[in-house]
Amino acid sequence: MRESRAVSSAALREILKDRFLVGAALNDNQIAGKDTAAVEIVRRHFNTITPENILKWEAVHPKADRFEFCVPDQFVALGAWQGLFVVGHTLVWHNQTPPWVFEGTSGAPLHPELLLWRLREHIHTVVGRYRGRVRAWDVVNEAFEDDGTWRKTPWYTTLGEEFVAKAFEFARDADPDAELYYNDYNLWKPAKRKAVVRLVTSLRKRGIRVDGIGEQGHWLLEDPSLQEIEATIVDLAKTGAKVMITELDIDPLPRPDALVGADVAKHVELTPELDPHAEGVPEDVQRRMAQRYADVFSLFVKHRAVSRVTLWGVTDADSWLNHWPVPGRTNHPLLWDRLGQPKPAFHAVVEALTRAASARA
Ligand code: G3I
Repeated sequence: MRESRAVSSAALREILKDRFLVGAALNDNQIAGKDTAAVEIVRRHFNTITPENILKWEAVHPKADRFEFCVPDQFVALGAWQGLFVVGHTLVWHNQTPPWVFEGTSGAPLHPELLLWRLREHIHTVVGRYRGRVRAWDVVNEAFEDDGTWRKTPWYTTLGEEFVAKAFEFARDADPDAELYYNDYNLWKPAKRKAVVRLVTSLRKRGIRVDGIGEQGHWLLEDPSLQEIEATIVDLAKTGAKVMITELDIDPLPRPDALVGADVAKHVELTPELDPHAEGVPEDVQRRMAQRYADVFSLFVKHRAVSRVTLWGVTDADSWLNHWPVPGRTNHPLLWDRLGQPKPAFHAVVEALTRAASARA
């Protein structure tokens, strides 16, 4: 793919300015400003940021009586300084939540009222601190299994389905102006999507604010199909909520079927066959990645309901897919390579979006 001057100087946020927000998840080094190459990419190409880990419960509220706001404060300040739409991730999840949250006092079994009180205190403290500055929150993350049944987390087994409604109410009370989202992966699977659509529709009918639904977008080179992605956008939009692709990456490495998605509880051991591009990505794979990224971005711009697309990391070096589902692989799932250089996939996205914009004009 030849890089024209126009393409190499293009900024994603500029090309997409009339369509949707575009951004990335940031890690500690980027938030601290140490990874200057990544920060420059963010400054140039993005208008929204999400923290990859630092606002998760274990990081921001590690002990019952201790909140750690130092790094989140830096993150929020970075967003304000650069004029970015700051998304908070995530208030209620089963992962990266410390065990004490689900333990009763002095060895007593956990009482639902106590868990609810902890949830309220957590949300009010964290959301309240960043009121007006964190503009949107992933309130509930990954409440369903792929087959559409409720995930049997301590949130669900202790509080039942109502934990979701409560979390959204607490967040709305803590910052009535923040947008509030439900976020999950594999919503292209019909049973899971149906469960989320049913939940969001019923919450909205009850007057509980759910402003958006995020399909995380941890996808592979071939799966899900473009038809499945489009059906997901269309169905989610029918709830009346905004639709977002919140954690986009395209994994070009081999993946056992059972590990499609983002269930971080599962792992596979490293073998050479599972790490085929450790020395670099062959041209045909670069080409397929470019086509895949161009195809999915072309779909996103086609649908008005899509209000934001966030990549889960800035460069390939940062991606969580270097550690999951096979720890220690060299992965290449994003638009910038390990040196922070734009990849053929980046140029293909720019070309596709530029073409789509001139077709609309
Ligand atoms: O902070 C410790 C560090 O002290 C330690 O030395 C190191 C050793 O492994 O681990 C560090 O913690 C890691 C943490 O990321 C911070 O880098 C954890 O092991 C690692 O498991 C954790 O992974 C994160 C994962 O969520 C955990 O659930 C990924 O970075 C993060 O990208 C990923 O993000 C999730 C979204 O929140 C929700 N959707 C799925 C997505 C991908 O799994």
